[in-house]
Amino acid sequence: MSKKISLLDCTIENVRSVKLACIEEHLFLGGAEIMLIDDGTPTLSSLFVHPHYRRRGIGEALVRAAMRWADQNGTDLWLHVMLENEARSLYERLLFEYTGEKTEIGSFWMVKVAHDGRLAEPADVEKLLAK
Ligand SMILES: CC(C)(COP(=O)(O)OP(=O)(O)OC[C@H]1O[C@@H](n2cnc3c(N)ncnc32)[C@H](O)[C@@H]1OP(=O)(O)O)[C@@H](O)C(=O)NCCC(=O)NCCS
Repeated sequence: MSKKISLLDCTIENVRSVKLACIEEHLFLGGAEIMLIDDGTPTLSSLFVHPHYRRRGIGEALVRAAMRWADQNGTDLWLHVMLENEARSLYERLLFEYTGEKTEIGSFWMVKVAHDGRLAEPADVEKLLAK
């Protein structure tokens, strides 16, 4: 059985998003979307894997597919995460970096700079935790 990640580009009421779906044998195992919000900054959101299929690499495959899309489009990829979320270690391992900015719900912005670049001064997560 092979898992396939498909990308669907769609625009609803001027908001463009790229939907990612991991499908195996007609079953939807997980998905995510890349939202092009505000000035068009690509933001990875709604990453989700069906609870029965977790810890098998599907979440990572979805994030990597989003990173490939960003790379092919020559753009940074943004996301935000609560520090206690299980996805945090995944994003850190894939070299997303903390910008030091917080959202109004208390999650922290991270970015993967285009073409494997690094932020000039990534924020220190220990300092973010202390805030
Ligand atoms: C986060 C989520 C998408 C991960 O999906 P997944 O398919 O289980 O992830 P993977 O199997 O690819 O795991 C990748 C890495 O994520 C981290 N991770 C995933 N689940 C974890 C858990 N329960 N506890 C700690 N780390 C975890 C680990 O670093 C893991 O790598 P490892 O297995 O080599 O240790 C899934 O748990 C989920 O849908 N959670 C609910 C929705 C959510 O919180 N989304 C993220 C919003 S920011």
